[in-house]
Parts: sequence; C-alpha cells; structure tokens
Amino acid sequence: MRTLLFVAAAVMWAQAPPPAKVFVPKPAPEQPVPFSHKTHVASGMQCRNCHAMKPPGDRAGIPSEALCMGCHSSIKSDAPAIQKLSGFAKEKRPVPWVRVYKLPKTVYFSHEVHVRQAKAECAVCHGPVAEREALGQEKSIYMAECMACHDQHKASNKCDLCHDTH
Ligand code: HEC
Ligand code: HEC
Ligand code: HEC
Ligand code: HEC
Ligand code: HEC
Repeated sequence: MRTLLFVAAAVMWAQAPPPAKVFVPKPAPEQPVPFSHKTHVASGMQCRNCHAMKPPGDRAGIPSEALCMGCHSSIKSDAPAIQKLSGFAKEKRPVPWVRVYKLPKTVYFSHEVHVRQAKAECAVCHGPVAEREALGQEKSIYMAECMACHDQHKASNKCDLCHDTH
C-alpha cells in the first residue's frame, strides 16, 4: 500500500503544474463580532499591533480578546457588539472568526519570509484592508499568483518549495 501511494505521488509530482484557476473575489463572510479594519486603522493602530507575526512567523496571527478588551473595557463598552466581545473574553473563549484567506494544509507559506525578507506589503496579497469595514477575499492566493511573483523576483518555483513532496 505504501509503495503504491509513493508511486502515485511520484507520478503526480512529475507532472507540469495544473492549469491556472480563475479567481473570483469573495464577499466578506458574516463575523461573530462586526470588526471594522477601517475604524481601527483610522484610530492609529498598525497592522502589526494586532498581527504580530510571532516567531517562527509563518502565521500573521489573530489578536486575542484580551488585546481587544485593553481598549473596550472602557471604549463603547455598552454597544451590543462590544457586549458580545466581552462575553467571549469573560468565558475565555476565542472569538470564532471566520477565516478569509486560507491555503490547503499541504502548501507551505511564511509571512516572516514575505513581509520581513522579501519586503512585500500586506496589500499585495490582501488588498486595501485599511479601507474596509468588513473584509472579504479580494486577492488571489492561488498557485499561479505565487508563481508569477516568484518569477518576477527570480525566486524559486520548484514544486517542493511550496509543496511537501516527500
Ligand atoms: C505574499 C503574500 C502575502 C503577504 C505579503 C501577506 N500575506 Fe497574509 N496571508 C497570505 C496567505 C497565503 C495567507 C493564508 C495562509 C494559510 O492559510 O496558511 C495569509 C493569511 C493571513 C492571515 C490569517 C492567518 C494567519 O496567518 O494568522 C492574516 C491575519 C494575515 N494574512 C495578515 C497579513 C498582514 C497583516 C500582512 C502584512 C504585514 C500580510 N498578511 C502579508 C499571504 C500574504
Ligand atoms: C487601541 C484601542 C482599541 C483596540 C485594541 C481595539 N479597539 Fe475596537 N474600537 C476602538 C475605537 C476607538 C473604536 C471606535 C469607537 C467609536 O465609534 O467611538 C472601536 C470600535 C469597535 C467596534 C464598534 C463598536 C460599535 O458598535 O460602535 C467593535 C465591534 C470593535 N471595536 C471591536 C474590536 C475588536 C474585536 C478588537 C480586538 C481585535 C478591538 N476592537 C480592539 C479602539 C480599539
Ligand atoms: C485592532 C486589531 C487589528 C488591526 C489594527 C488590524 N487587524 Fe487585521 N484582523 C483583525 C481581526 C480581529 C481579524 C478577524 C476578523 C476579520 O476577518 O475582519 C482580522 C483579519 C485580518 C485578515 C484576514 C485573516 C483571515 O484569513 O481570516 C487580514 C488579511 C488582515 N486582518 C490584515 C490586516 C492588515 C493588512 C492590517 C493593517 C492595514 C490589519 N489587518 C490591522 C484585527 C486587526
Ligand atoms: C509579492 C511577491 C510574492 C508573492 C505574491 C509570493 N511570494 Fe513567495 N517569495 C517571494 C520572494 C521574493 C521570495 C524569496 C525570499 C528570500 O529568499 O529572501 C519568496 C520565497 C518563498 C518561499 C521560500 C522561503 C521559505 O519560506 O522557505 C516559499 C515557500 C514561498 N515563497 C511560498 C509562497 C506561496 C505559497 C505564495 C502564494 C500563496 C507566495 N510565496 C507568494 C515573493 C512572493
Ligand atoms: C510558490 C509556491 C508554489 C509552487 C512553486 C508550486 N505550487 Fe502548487 N500550489 C500552490 C498553492 C498556493 C496551491 C493552492 C492554491 C491553488 O489551488 O492554486 C497549490 C496547489 C497545487 C495543486 C492542487 C491544485 C488543484 O487544482 O487543486 C497541484 C496539483 C499543484 N499545486 C502542483 C504543483 C506542481 C506540479 C508544482 C511544480 C511544477 C507546483 N505545484 C509548484 C503553490 C505552489
């Protein structure tokens, strides 16, 4: 069985990449708390204040309820949306945010490498987040877009750079 799987994998990975998928922007999903990037960035917060890229930095990270409550235990604490937020915080339950940008588990990606090393702006892959009341997926993270930028920057496009083929 193992041999068979290995052969199947080898055959698959010997192929050329599949045809490029056509990206269609996705509207913002309904979130458990109506969080606005526009409001928060306009009030002076930086992306990294909330998306700290903690080591090893693969993930940008979603801020904890404790960080939100640092302000919202006083700011707008009576608003229904903040009541809901503080409910999660009191129960020490993470807000079940609906993910917007998500790769299949089999693809490797690091924010640290792209943001700190390659100096790519957040907007290249996520659009004008600071202008959005609600966030939908407006940029493609399909393989063709990864590869086009790698070509442009003379970065590798070997299959095993992004896929674990072993
Ligand atoms: C080169 C493209 C690229 C750049 C630049 C980029 N991202 Fe991402 N981002 C992605 C991809 C791809 C995913 C999905 C990752 C996954 O599902 O494993 C993602 C996911 C995320 C997520 C949710 C998952 C997580 O990693 O915690 C957040 C939040 C995020 N990005 C914020 C940012 C911020 C803030 C910046 C700028 C500081 C940024 N991104 C720059 C491509 C990028
Ligand atoms: C640095 C302080 C600060 C932090 C941290 C912060 N916020 Fe806010 N938030 C604000 C300010 C300022 C407003 C605008 C208040 C107003 O309209 O007067 C706001 C407004 C809101 C509102 C709209 C409230 C309403 O109904 O009018 C929501 C919801 C909200 N924030 C959620 C969050 C969440 C979730 C987090 C954590 C991810 C967070 N905030 C972190 C300062 C902060
Ligand atoms: C006050 C905290 C805060 C700030 C500042 C902030 N974000 Fe976020 N971000 C969040 C929260 C909370 C979510 C989850 C809810 C949502 O998707 O709107 C999120 C979600 C995201 C996502 C989608 C993640 C996914 O895949 O689900 C991206 C991309 C992102 N932020 C990028 C940015 C960028 C770029 C900036 C700076 C321009 C920024 N954020 C500033 C709190 C923040
Ligand atoms: C804005 C241009 C750009 C985009 C878009 C981009 N990359 Fe990259 N990527 C680079 C550059 C430049 C490097 C080389 C960085 C270095 O070596 O300093 C790189 C390096 C890498 C590496 C090797 C470094 C490491 O982490 O081991 C991987 C893996 C990778 N990218 C995956 C992806 C994936 C997956 C996507 C699409 C979801 C993507 N990249 C989209 C520019 C980009
Ligand atoms: C720079 C990163 C990167 C490189 C290099 C790369 N891929 Fe991908 N690949 C991705 C990402 C991201 C996805 C998931 C998004 C998608 O389906 O486009 C993916 C998805 C796939 C899929 C599933 C597509 C589908 O339709 O479901 C196959 C098959 C694949 N890649 C094969 C390859 C082969 C073969 C190579 C080498 C020629 C390769 N990839 C090189 C990033 C990369």
